[in-house]
Amino acid sequence: QAAPQGQGAAPVDANSILLGQVGSLTGGQATFGISTRNGIELALKEANAAGGVKGKKLAIRVYDNQSKPEEAAQAATRLITQDKVALILGDVASSNSLAMAEKAQAAGVPMITPSSTNPTVTAKGDYIFRVCFIDPFQGFVMAKFARENLKLNNVAVLQDNKSAYSIGLAEVFTRKFTEMGGKVTAVESYSQGDTDYRAQLTAIRKSQPEGIYVPGYYSEVGIIARQAREVGLKVPLMGGDGWDSEKLFELGASAIEGSYFSNHYSPDNPDPRVQKFIADYKAAYGAVPDALAALGYDSARVAVAALERAKDLSGPAVRDAIAQTKDFPGVAGTVTLDAQRNAVKSAVVLKVEDGKTQYVTTINP
Ligand code: PHE
Repeated sequence: QAAPQGQGAAPVDANSILLGQVGSLTGGQATFGISTRNGIELALKEANAAGGVKGKKLAIRVYDNQSKPEEAAQAATRLITQDKVALILGDVASSNSLAMAEKAQAAGVPMITPSSTNPTVTAKGDYIFRVCFIDPFQGFVMAKFARENLKLNNVAVLQDNKSAYSIGLAEVFTRKFTEMGGKVTAVESYSQGDTDYRAQLTAIRKSQPEGIYVPGYYSEVGIIARQAREVGLKVPLMGGDGWDSEKLFELGASAIEGSYFSNHYSPDNPDPRVQKFIADYKAAYGAVPDALAALGYDSARVAVAALERAKDLSGPAVRDAIAQTKDFPGVAGTVTLDAQRNAVKSAVVLKVEDGKTQYVTTINP
């Protein structure tokens, strides 16, 4: 099922360069794909208004993966074999990006994930890049925050066993928090899509933690927060970037208030470049951009700059140009790609307050 081509992008013809996006436009992570698509579309609109690339306009074909890795793999194959795109942007959830990266690497088509943080994604090969930090850093950030800022000694972990992202982040957090002298009192797990978490939360309550680390996605975390309160757990919840969605506040309501999560960007950043992006995005989409939108925007701008620099539009030439990305001024931080094709950036910690996020602190690598 082809999603409509991004509005605002030029129609595809001989005078355009076609890019592809695979995103979760429906399903459990729908807001991830939609925000990312909006950010990409805004960047391409600006690039086209500024004359495009190598005298050509940029167009994009977007496919929905329904928040499923199998669909993500198929969509990537379609972009590669049918649409013959110059490069692929996406996805958000690491398990989807892993499935896509397999295909992109095998075909020699460059792929940039805006926001997948699991380290194994870019390890798939030399055609796979990301413009965000990775989870060994993100897990360290929340362990440090829990120990040093919240002064917690005992924390329980609740992970999503169906998500490479969640498993990886739970592992890093547990290791770092323990190294810092803290104790992980219980590790429980669930499967994406579950609706009843009371058994795990009851086991966690019995371990008497002072906080719970839940590195999952907003759709499950919102419900987990409510059920945690139901079983009598009053302690703060902590999480990672997967919490970042308007829907979290809706699903979690008062139960999610006072929780903390690590993220890539804060709309409170006073940098005029960031504030201009927020104003433009608001004007176009009627919402404050989340980190997905910011990283989608950055990924498309990094792609456009690389296409401009590339000696031609072949896979190897575009790959080489992306690999040279250095000091690129993104709205979610400066992007310099290292030898593993990852960006090294700082993270922010946000607090949920009054149904929105409040900037707390920045933690550097
Ligand atoms: N980092 C998450 C993953 O790899 C995806 C994500 C990024 C979700 C940013 C929300 C915000 O699965």
